[in-house]
Amino acid sequence: MWSKLRQLRGADPHFRIAEDDAGIAAAYTLNRWESEFPGYSPQDGYGNRLIGYLAVADRHRCKGGSLADEALTDALYTALDVEKEADRGVVVWGKVHRRNKASKRMLTRHQFHYETRVDDDANLEHWVRRIDR
Ligand SMILES: CC(C)(COP(=O)(O)OP(=O)(O)OC[C@H]1O[C@@H](n2cnc3c(N)ncnc32)[C@H](O)[C@@H]1OP(=O)(O)O)[C@@H](O)C(=O)NCCC(=O)NCCS
Repeated sequence: MWSKLRQLRGADPHFRIAEDDAGIAAAYTLNRWESEFPGYSPQDGYGNRLIGYLAVADRHRCKGGSLADEALTDALYTALDVEKEADRGVVVWGKVHRRNKASKRMLTRHQFHYETRVDDDANLEHWVRRIDR
């Protein structure tokens, strides 16, 4: 994880951890995403961010997704916050394994959609949500 974050050091990486009495409860990373797809750069005025590795601890799984929802909401507010220069809003991406149903359900709850205009990254689908200020 640390080496991955080091590789991303030019992309304003953030690593957020939520703890409870039993230790780490949820975590995610967030970095600027320079799209490899020139045809799909965000419109002027929007920042472009990628959420990575969003996970909740096993003890919080199969409980209706409330902690996952809290973590993702936190990531979306953080994305808006760190993209202060982007006066119109932010485009937020997640790369999801095509078989990862729990993750896709979570993203769907938060109005993300599968962006098929951008090629999958091997088995990883690109899911996206635009948030206007
Ligand atoms: C993605 C995630 C945050 C969503 O959390 P959530 O909304 O609370 O959803 P849950 O984890 O409770 O999802 C329940 C599903 O996961 C399965 N599941 C629960 N614990 C599991 C485990 N330890 N290993 C594998 N699957 C598990 C359940 O069987 C259930 O599947 P089903 O609904 O198809 O029967 C969470 O599933 C997670 O942390 N996953 C691991 C990391 C991950 O895949 N992150 C996404 C990277 S893009």
